[in-house]
Amino acid sequence: MSFRILGTGSALPQCVKTNDDLAQILDTSDQWIRTRTGICRRHVMTTETVTDLAAEASRKALEQAGIVPEELGWILCPTVGGDYITPGLSATLQAALGAHCPAMDINAACSGFLFALDAAEGIFARKKARYVLIAAAEGLSRIMDWEDRSTCVLFGDGAGAVVLGEGESLLSLHLETKGCPEPLHGCFPGGNSPWLSVKPENHFVHMDGQEVYKFAVSTICSGIETILQETGVSPEEIRHVILHQANLRIIDAARKKLPIPGDRYRLCIQETGNLSAASIPVLLDFCRRDQLLKPGDLMILCGFGAGFTSGTALVRWEP
Ligand code: ACO
Repeated sequence: MSFRILGTGSALPQCVKTNDDLAQILDTSDQWIRTRTGICRRHVMTTETVTDLAAEASRKALEQAGIVPEELGWILCPTVGGDYITPGLSATLQAALGAHCPAMDINAACSGFLFALDAAEGIFARKKARYVLIAAAEGLSRIMDWEDRSTCVLFGDGAGAVVLGEGESLLSLHLETKGCPEPLHGCFPGGNSPWLSVKPENHFVHMDGQEVYKFAVSTICSGIETILQETGVSPEEIRHVILHQANLRIIDAARKKLPIPGDRYRLCIQETGNLSAASIPVLLDFCRRDQLLKPGDLMILCGFGAGFTSGTALVRWEP
């Protein structure tokens, strides 16, 4: 017993910042950002909270699934951080929805949605829930250094959600963690402990872009090759490749190396930037809304991010 996806939803903040907008506050240009990353614009929080975004995405997914919050058996929130250090986003979301089930956050950075699918599979296998909500939401604009042009141009804010019910749609799933925090990390904010002798780094995201790039391309390729080999599914049979939207150059490099036809790769990075854990469910929702997903379609979902973490899944679309 695994699950099937009954509904999807997404939510982006109202405020849109184009590359030209960023060029007003940073030494950058639309041309540099487009050619190096594929990103044209991103949405950033102004009055919204991360919980607001997660709740809006969740309500849409619940409505599509025909489920009310009281019927949920579990809520899982992949995120690098909600509105508080504690409680987690899962608790504030549960309150916003009026649900009553257990809820927890999963911090596996940009791979979090895949880690949540694995946890959900376990919940269904143990018959602990009839319906599980996975709501991934990020407010990354809060942890960017808006004076560091090499990182802040890459990210955006947003939320994506899926409602899962019992089913057999998950055909294969692989997760990996290779503990290696240096190339990509954000620090816990420093407090005022009189005993702490090591001054913490500021809490902004720090990234070695080239190290992350190399890791990302190699892990996408190895994850997808493993899934194809293990399941015996041919590259032609894959209808949709939904990769974490980190950078168009990463996606293009993987696309060139892999045997799956190039027109199967779905994209939203131009419009959203990198949404970390939320990028896969947001893109999945866009694909559903655009009526690209047909019953029986095979899709690969693949995430990779800080940790380093990565996860790849083969899923059949049978809503
Ligand atoms: N605008 C203009 N110039 C810039 C900008 C910017 N926004 N950012 C960096 N530059 C400059 C640098 O200062 C440097 O200038 P210099 O040559 O005078 O020193 C020059 O551009 C080249 O910098 P590089 O870092 O070598 O640029 P690179 O071609 O590697 O591109 C990038 C940087 C886009 C970050 C690339 O390394 C990359 O795609 N890395 C992958 C990282 C990624 O996508 N992370 C997403 C988050 S992680 C995740 O989701 C898993």
